[in-house]
Amino acid sequence: MSQRKFRWPVHGPALMLFALLAMLWASVCSAGTQTTSPPLMHVTVNLSDISALRSGALYFAHRCEACHSIQGARLQELAKPLNLSRKDIEKYLDVSKSGYLSTIQSSLPTGLAKKFLNKTEPPDLTVIAKRRSPDWLYTYLNSFYIDPSRATGVNNVVFYNVSMPDVFATLQGLQKPVMKPGYRFGEKTKIAMGVAPLTKGVMTSGQFHAMTKDIVTFLYLVAHPHQQEREKIGGWVLIALAILSVITFLLYKLYWKNVIPPEGGRWWQYWKR
Ligand code: HEC
Repeated sequence: MSQRKFRWPVHGPALMLFALLAMLWASVCSAGTQTTSPPLMHVTVNLSDISALRSGALYFAHRCEACHSIQGARLQELAKPLNLSRKDIEKYLDVSKSGYLSTIQSSLPTGLAKKFLNKTEPPDLTVIAKRRSPDWLYTYLNSFYIDPSRATGVNNVVFYNVSMPDVFATLQGLQKPVMKPGYRFGEKTKIAMGVAPLTKGVMTSGQFHAMTKDIVTFLYLVAHPHQQEREKIGGWVLIALAILSVITFLLYKLYWKNVIPPEGGRWWQYWKR
């Protein structure tokens, strides 16, 4: 057989050029929307910390439920992870009096918030801990700062022009932004990269951080209601699958014993001939 000469594939360079142009175009596009993102604070969520879950649920009921619902979770479902009786849940957590079997409902009439909060309806927070990371939520709750240009008087480091008012003003005190030069949608401007305390609140910063951590832990629980169960049964499922693999392998050997002759004759051996 004569040896074939190596030839460059015709499409290779053209494809490479196309990829290069696409990359260049993507970078031009992203330069137009480039926004400097402030650093996130870090939080470690521990779902087996029952006291954190309880206090998070309590803070949610009294500080957030006025505006936000959690329609994907029923009060009844909180009994097990929070280790609370029905009576306790009805007494401490059912602030909107919608009932033990009902979902967590804000008593805010639909449409009313739109009137006051910059035409924005407070979103349902069932899956917020999936859409945003715990770190993001923690930073968000800690990063409201005064901004006289806003109708609510505040803005947020990780949520520019947020419509939510600063519900922590009395607890945390007011904060001022730490502005640094950066980009917003490609435009050079000053960006709030963090906050600095301005006035004192009734909580110390340690207490405040603990409270926001508890709220994030609670929001994480409602977004991942079966996580603890999954972690518990995960190991057993893997063991069951391993046992099943052995059984199926032995069955395979048994079934094929009469089909495959001992001298061979599998399809790939015929293929070679
Ligand atoms: C006075 C009503 C009000 C209260 C009380 C309130 N919020 Fe909000 N919240 C809003 C509104 C309105 C938005 C929508 C902001 C936007 O889209 O600009 C919002 C947005 C949010 C978001 C961001 C959602 C997203 O799209 O990423 C989170 C998280 C959140 N709130 C958590 C909380 C928590 C936790 C509490 C309790 C400590 C709380 N909120 C209390 C009105 C409220």
